[in-house]
This record gives sequence, C-alpha cells and structure tokens, in this order.
Amino acid sequence: MLLAIENILSRAEVRAMRDVAADLMFGDGKATAGRFAREVKANDQALPCPELDVVLAKVEQALAASPVFRSAARPKALTKLILSRYRQGQTYGLHVDDALMQGLRTDLSFTLFLSEPDSYDGGALIIEDTFEARAIKLEPGEVILYPSTTLHRVEPVSSGERLAVVGWVQSIIRDGAQRQVLFDLDQAVEACFAAEGKTQQFDRLAKTRANLMRMWAEV
Ligand code: NI
Repeated sequence: MLLAIENILSRAEVRAMRDVAADLMFGDGKATAGRFAREVKANDQALPCPELDVVLAKVEQALAASPVFRSAARPKALTKLILSRYRQGQTYGLHVDDALMQGLRTDLSFTLFLSEPDSYDGGALIIEDTFEARAIKLEPGEVILYPSTTLHRVEPVSSGERLAVVGWVQSIIRDGAQRQVLFDLDQAVEACFAAEGKTQQFDRLAKTRANLMRMWAEV
C-alpha cells in the first residue's frame, strides 16, 4: 500500500524546520547507504547536532500523533530519521532499501516533504511496482508511506533544493497484506461507531480486529 498522509506538520512548522536546516552542516549521503545503493546515491544529509535532534524529534512526535500513520504502519520502532537534501544535479538512483537497519527490520519507508513543490524541478520520488512507476512529489508537511520491499529512486533535481526527512518503520505487523486488512478494519470500526455508536455490529468488528491483532502481531 502506498499512502500519502496530509498535515503531518503545519506550514508554519515546516517553514521553521527549513530555517533551521539552512544553518545546518550537511555531509555526503553515501555514509548511510548500503553497499550497492552507495553506487547510485548522490545527495547530502544533515550531520548530527543538537539543532538537528530537535527537528527530528518533532517529526517523530508528529508521526506518532497521526492516527492515519499509526493505523497504516502500526509501528513497533522507527530507525533514526535522516534530513536529506538534494540540490541541482543530485539524485538517488534505483535501489532497494536495506532489509535491516540499526537492528530493525525495515517494513515501511517514508518521506516527509519539506520543500514547496514549485521551489525545485525534478526530485520526485519514483516508486516502481510490477505494473507501473509512480512519481510522487507532495506538499510540505505531507508524508508518503510505502513498502520497503519496492525498488525506488529520487529523480535528479534540475534546479532548486529538495529537503525531506526520511525514515523506516519496523511494524508490529510484518506482512503488508495483513497491515492492509487491519487498516481497512480501522476505518470500518470508526465509521461504524460514528454512524450508530457501540452496536452489536461494532462489537463484532472490534472483536475481529482485536483477534486478528492477536494472530498476527509481533511484539
Ligand atoms: Ni530508499
């Protein structure tokens, strides 16, 4: 499942982050790429410092506070986030993300866009599946959540600057199809409750969701 989630951060929060990012030191993104991805990775990443920690903590909190993110990802843990920057000519060629990072299994990848889409040319995230390649370029403060199992790339930036925060989720639910079932059930449970309250049907749906969690969850 590919999912775009709006309003993870407000415009004002994103602007403040871009201001902080403008004063940060950046290093070569190859430092955090796996052996093969390194060959095609040409971007910059913010170097560790207290100001960066504040920005990344804010993003983590915003994700944790998003009901849609929680429902779609069912996160067990997140990797350390990365603030990435692409300027003219920079790109990240086709690759698959490492299966294991920092002791976590990467089930889901995400990109939180920070730059205004019309402030840079190129720079779309291209996710390939067996049917087609999709180009994704979202508004500032929006997140794209996608399976880490995919081949994907960032197309070259031809002008301007593309700032984004990227990270990975180990989910309590390892299987993407099972995550989809639970995501759909979340919507059904909510809609059922909103329409008619705590009916027998609601109880049955909620029970089904809880029991599927018991069958599938890795905690
Ligand atoms: Ni990647």
